[in-house]
Amino acid sequence: MNAILGIDVGASGIKGALVDLDSGRLYGERFRVPTPQPSTPDAMAAAFGEIVDFFNYEGTIGCGFPAIVKNSTALSAANIDHGWIGRNIGEVFGKKGGTRVFATNDADAAGMAEMRYGIGKGEEGLVLLITIGTGLGSALFYKGMLVPNTELGHVLWKKGKSAELYCSSGARERMKISRKEWADRFNDYLLHLERLFTPDLFILGGGESKYFDSYRAQLTTKARVEPAKLLNNAGIIGAAAFAAEQ
Ligand code: BGC
Repeated sequence: MNAILGIDVGASGIKGALVDLDSGRLYGERFRVPTPQPSTPDAMAAAFGEIVDFFNYEGTIGCGFPAIVKNSTALSAANIDHGWIGRNIGEVFGKKGGTRVFATNDADAAGMAEMRYGIGKGEEGLVLLITIGTGLGSALFYKGMLVPNTELGHVLWKKGKSAELYCSSGARERMKISRKEWADRFNDYLLHLERLFTPDLFILGGGESKYFDSYRAQLTTKARVEPAKLLNNAGIIGAAAFAAEQ
């Protein structure tokens, strides 16, 4: 079997599993540790190491990371400790003997998984995946090709602040608004993205995709909108697929 450890680093949890790259399915159980607060590189490296130890793993590891990632280096830190900016993620997480860590943006990883194994399989047009969690992540594809680090959670919204501060799950929880109210805001956000990109398909991922049926009727874009098929495992699966290609 062709299995690689995929680890999805999030602002609230770090989740890992062995991924069978032939089928795009998790191989065995998934293991999660809470993201340390503050989420400094040293504290996160220790949590990442717990996951590697749980699987008793040596070899290539794929990592989805919640920031702009270029050549393995974090270039932003919207929902994590600012000490990450400029740090090489592969080096911070790859200290354990026998492991080599390849990092990419978490939403790009989730998008790659959905395009390869999930709801986006065979989609040739313009596809925009939005992950809805503590922040909003985005992954843009045209004819199956990824345009990395699009960061559409940070399009400027009211009062010049990032959209994710108004319509992520994190914002819904912080502002204590109902899912119905949140979904109207989120719909405005999707309509805005539709004006900018005219996608054929929106894929909604992250934790909020589980509740898709409760708010789908509130979404009014011309483009189709589908929930991610791999749900919250897309980031783990895509991270493993990314590492396998390096
Ligand atoms: C970050 C993105 C990330 C998204 C989801 C945003 O705040 O800027 O890089 O993909 O959160 O984690």
